Amino acid sequence: MTTRAQSAGAKPPLYKIVMLGDSGVGKTSLVARLTNPDRPLNHDISATMGIEFDTQMLDTEHGKVKAQIWDTAGQERFARVLLPTYFRKAKGVILVYDITNAKSFESLSERWMTQLNDHASSDDLAKLLVGNKSDLEASREVPREKAEQFCLEYGMEMLETSAKSGDNVLQAFEKLIGIVHNKALEATSKNRGGIKAINGTNEGFKLDGSKDNQASDSSACGC
Ligand code: GTP
Repeated sequence: MTTRAQSAGAKPPLYKIVMLGDSGVGKTSLVARLTNPDRPLNHDISATMGIEFDTQMLDTEHGKVKAQIWDTAGQERFARVLLPTYFRKAKGVILVYDITNAKSFESLSERWMTQLNDHASSDDLAKLLVGNKSDLEASREVPREKAEQFCLEYGMEMLETSAKSGDNVLQAFEKLIGIVHNKALEATSKNRGGIKAINGTNEGFKLDGSKDNQASDSSACGC
């Protein structure tokens, strides 16, 4: 279903989402697979050292939206200083672990969830758990049930992906952005006291879901 706001040539809403997880779990590879689906996986990828982001149009049940995807550094020495910037105005987070690396899964509760709660207003941040490298089933160290238990505990959904084969990659980003967009529409509709807000004409939305007629990638980003 497409809202009238988008069929009238309005700019699609732009939301910042953040990739989190240990170094080497495949965050950069997932973003690369999403933005360049036909390019083969690069195994010589160097560790992310600072801040990198890509934008990608994605479909939701309420029309197209633009995701600004921040690929963060998993290495502790980079991540610690950059976390406040990563989370600033973020509306969604993909928590990534490697299904062949138990340590990367344990880090989610030991490290990344704590960081999330310390730096982000967790209540309105949509979250998705992603177990990457599903093509390496023979080397699996993290049973799916363990990940499902984590999801129950922290209230989120999960998908297993492969940045190598492309399996479930688009689905993962679309799932998260769908949750983000629904939350923004609900909040806007509540603020304005009705559905009028999401059916208005020619209105863009800032990253925080509020109205912005001038919204462009850079101005809406505020980063
Ligand atoms: P940092 O930038 O250090 O935080 O790492 P990262 O999480 O961005 O990991 P990156 O994308 O750099 O991937 C690390 C290694 O895993 C690379 O050699 C990738 O080619 C490989 N890799 C990533 N995703 C997959 C996957 O789905 N399957 C397989 N087999 N290898 C993968």
